[in-house]
Amino acid sequence: MNSAAPFVPETHQLSVLAEAAKGCEGCPLYRDATQTVFGSGRPSARVMLIGEQPGDREDRAGAPFVGPAGRVLDKALAAAEIDRDELYLTNAVKHFKFTTNERGKRRIHKTPSRTEVEACRPWIIAELETVAPEVVVLLGATAAKSMLGNDFRVSRHRGEVLHVTGLVPDADPALIATIHPSAVLRGPSETRDEAFDGLVADLRTAYATTRTVRSDGSAGSGTFMPAANPVRR
Ligand code: URA
Ligand code: SF4
Repeated sequence: MNSAAPFVPETHQLSVLAEAAKGCEGCPLYRDATQTVFGSGRPSARVMLIGEQPGDREDRAGAPFVGPAGRVLDKALAAAEIDRDELYLTNAVKHFKFTTNERGKRRIHKTPSRTEVEACRPWIIAELETVAPEVVVLLGATAAKSMLGNDFRVSRHRGEVLHVTGLVPDADPALIATIHPSAVLRGPSETRDEAFDGLVADLRTAYATTRTVRSDGSAGSGTFMPAANPVRR
């Protein structure tokens, strides 16, 4: 069975996890990708963002969200007045899955399969245990399904504050699913604007859900919402 589990060390040190992830062969995706793209950001982040998988640019750079989707994310974070440096960013799957076009030049993103997402899950669980965020933002269907189960529909539950019991031992992060930033890059301009505004609104909700005071001393927007629609696995 495909699983990253045998490669995940028992540690709460991100640098040790990241180093071990370089050698992961938990599913076939490591074979064609350039490198593992592990999460990055503030180790004590209150908010963790989970995307789908590295893209072409991330695969070359070895860091998450540095390509076109990352630029959309940066704009959305700026609009929501959230500092990227305060976050921890990672992906549901840590190797780039792609096909090449006929001429074999361009690498085209391919959605990871359910088995690949499940294989890679032990890395996210280890990141969740280590960073221990208060709020987790699931960017798009792949991340949402990885954490909330295959039947979860972002379109139906986006922006809701959700809880899953037992997801991470000793922690109960709130989960908020939203669209993937790359969805903003598709479709006609009116729907793009709407998609962008929706992403910003969901990021604001996530930040407002953090229980404590922000590091700049300003108050987070207060009360922690109980689950509007608890989802169980
Ligand atoms: N899309 C993602 O989901 N993650 C990245 O890191 C880049 C693009
Ligand atoms: Fe391991 Fe995940 Fe890469 Fe598969 S995608 S080899 S499980 S790190």
